[in-house]
Amino acid sequence: MDMIASSLPPALQARLRAGPAPWLVTGAAGFIGSNLVEALLVLDQRVVGLDNFATGYLANLDEVRQRVGANAWARFHFVEGDIRNIDDCRTACTGIRHVLHQAALGSVPRSIEDPLTTHAVNAAGFVNMLAAARDAGAASFTYAASSSTYGDEPTLPKVEDRIGRPLSPYAATKLFNEIDAEVFSRCYGFKTIGLRYFNVFGPRQDPDGAYAAVIPQWIATMIRGDEVFINGDGSTSRDFCFIANAVQANLLAALAPDAHRDQVYNVAVGQRTSLNTLFDTLAVQLARHGMPYARRPTYRDFRAGDVLHSLADIRKAAQRLGYAPSHNLHDGLDAAMPWYLQSVCPRGSR
Ligand SMILES: NC(=O)c1ccc[n+]([C@@H]2O[C@H](COP(=O)([O-])OP(=O)(O)OC[C@H]3O[C@@H](n4cnc5c(N)ncnc54)[C@H](O)[C@@H]3O)[C@@H](O)[C@H]2O)c1
Repeated sequence: MDMIASSLPPALQARLRAGPAPWLVTGAAGFIGSNLVEALLVLDQRVVGLDNFATGYLANLDEVRQRVGANAWARFHFVEGDIRNIDDCRTACTGIRHVLHQAALGSVPRSIEDPLTTHAVNAAGFVNMLAAARDAGAASFTYAASSSTYGDEPTLPKVEDRIGRPLSPYAATKLFNEIDAEVFSRCYGFKTIGLRYFNVFGPRQDPDGAYAAVIPQWIATMIRGDEVFINGDGSTSRDFCFIANAVQANLLAALAPDAHRDQVYNVAVGQRTSLNTLFDTLAVQLARHGMPYARRPTYRDFRAGDVLHSLADIRKAAQRLGYAPSHNLHDGLDAAMPWYLQSVCPRGSR
């Protein structure tokens, strides 16, 4: 079976297979969205995907099609559309039971360069999706929140009810999402779950472009033998979360009882790794796969808007959703390495 679906708790797999349902995944052509689509199809669900290919790729959906096979793929329907357009949101939500809303423009630096588009997609588009899902009578609405919401709150580990002020337009949009979700619960009784992802990584995360996330970007750079840049002195730390954990959290959230809705949950592992350690770990991984990287990284200035340290307290998701991460950083890199080795070089040209 598929690596991610098979890593899910057996009771969750059984529950899904026992009751196939119609799901909507927004951002379906992106990294997290395409992995959700794949896991759901493998687990016998019917899935609608919505995406406008702003940062997602048809190649991601092609890869899912190849991996799940023709029978499962027949249960997938794609809507090319934009969450800034309410009609597209309504079309995608028709007849849907569970919404997994992932579509957004990620990246702190992108939002600093273009706050207007980030706001239009992430904040206004989010309210469109909330309204469309509520009007369509969706039973659950789970959305991609973000650890960036902790902003300048220095306490570690991060606990859900203790947030600071947002440090970037991106973080502001993710905070707006949580506020709008709460308001939809209060005004309309439409209860949602926000998943504050902490640096998710894994297959199909874009390694290219100015806004690439650190793990795929460094692996691609190291495979190509280019210079790796570390923003700051390398002590910056993150709670890196393999995609299988994020998929698990989404599916648990969608099926969570009413009492555990209208909440946000940290989705991470609960371990933090500095950028210096991450660099060394990736170098060791690549050497094991016959691709030694002999160079040392180049240090440059800290990046505006970045949080210095990030580490999640995951007890709330564990206690209320039954979340139990299946992969730590090392397990996740082991699982993802074949994909990076196969895909990184050719994708560099896309
Ligand atoms: N990857 C992470 O570490 C991380 C961390 C925190 C939060 N998140 C959030 O998780 C979600 C998914 O992120 P990802 O890493 O998969 O990024 P991604 O860029 O790979 O996926 C986002 C998808 O949304 C689509 N999209 C963008 N604008 C759209 C629009 N206007 N209409 C329809 N579709 C649109 C893109 O084309 C893309 O396919 C985002 O909401 C992101 O903010 C991700």
